[in-house]
Amino acid sequence: MKILAIETSCDETAAAVTEGRRILSNVIFSQVNIHKKYGGVYPTLAKRAHLEKIDLIINKALKIARVSWSDLGAITVTFGPGLVVALEVGVNRAKELAQRYKKPVIPVNHLEGHFYSAFAQNGRGNPVRDFIFPCLFLIASGGHTSLILVKGHLDYQILGQTLDDAAGEALDKAAKMMNLGYPGGPIIEKLAQEGKLDSFDLPVPMLRHPGLNFSYSGLKTAFKYQLEKMGKGEIFASLPDLASSFQEATFKAILAKTKRALSNIEVKCLVVGGGVLANKLLRKKLRRLVKDQEVTIYFPSFKKLTGDNAAMIGVAAFYKYQQGIYLKKNFDKLDRVARPDLNLWTKKLKK
Ligand code: KG4
Ligand code: ZN
Repeated sequence: MKILAIETSCDETAAAVTEGRRILSNVIFSQVNIHKKYGGVYPTLAKRAHLEKIDLIINKALKIARVSWSDLGAITVTFGPGLVVALEVGVNRAKELAQRYKKPVIPVNHLEGHFYSAFAQNGRGNPVRDFIFPCLFLIASGGHTSLILVKGHLDYQILGQTLDDAAGEALDKAAKMMNLGYPGGPIIEKLAQEGKLDSFDLPVPMLRHPGLNFSYSGLKTAFKYQLEKMGKGEIFASLPDLASSFQEATFKAILAKTKRALSNIEVKCLVVGGGVLANKLLRKKLRRLVKDQEVTIYFPSFKKLTGDNAAMIGVAAFYKYQQGIYLKKNFDKLDRVARPDLNLWTKKLKK
């Protein structure tokens, strides 16, 4: 069954056509140039840009996949979590199209989309990866830093999550403090390659705390104080070292908590996803972390699936469709957006 997927939870207007795990098209319009000057996503502008682009992106996805409305078995859309004003654009359009073309709507949680990114395939059915349940899922993005136990398809348990900022958000804010631009993650990654690790004494978040939660606000404040102690010239001369130290502290927390989760819970598989996983050093460190263990690590199948995209929503929707999960005809009562609960759109909707 071919599915049209729509994703507008943050600053990417995205649409895709998928069939099972296969991606037939995956179109993404990034609003990064619109939000750049604000050093973060500006909600009203995000909404306006989604509204402007959504039909164009959907039509492009259908055209690339060479499908017409009659070929589609369902429409899927991200219901949350995310920016409510942005989510609404995708959800409303999905409902309108569903009504016009008489298609069912499959609601997908953004986080489960990132999980299924590791299992997406190209049009020829590659890569072939087995699901190994139970599985530990690490997501690190601009909106989330969480460790989730995936016990089976659509069966999630959140083990730990950030209590304040997400890892990507912390990197974005640190870059903003250094006037480096947006998004901060890739800029810091590049600068850090020239810098010395731990040149500055920055606290590694939550390292001594038991459990699997994260917190980045202390690191952010420590970094702010560090910059305030330095003159403009000194900051400029130390940018690589500052970037490297901040990035190292951010990643140490991710690695320590992932290691802790792997030693406390019986899993044979680690799936990772989210924009921060575009970072080569973090990928290398994660690979090293599982090297001596009997744990298979899966990154998103393709680079384009690391950040936000609609193909991952389409793949997740396939597993919902298999279990008969879609919005009831009367979706008015069920359609409130920005529902963060991962299991909300699974069990409750089962027939
Ligand atoms: O998954 P994503 O595209 O959107 C959200 O759902 O948030 O993640 C965006 C985040 C941003 O905070 C960005 O700075 C970060 O991912 N990011 C990176 C890299 N590329 C993007 N962080 C570290 N290294 C990178 N190369
Ligand atoms: Zn995301």
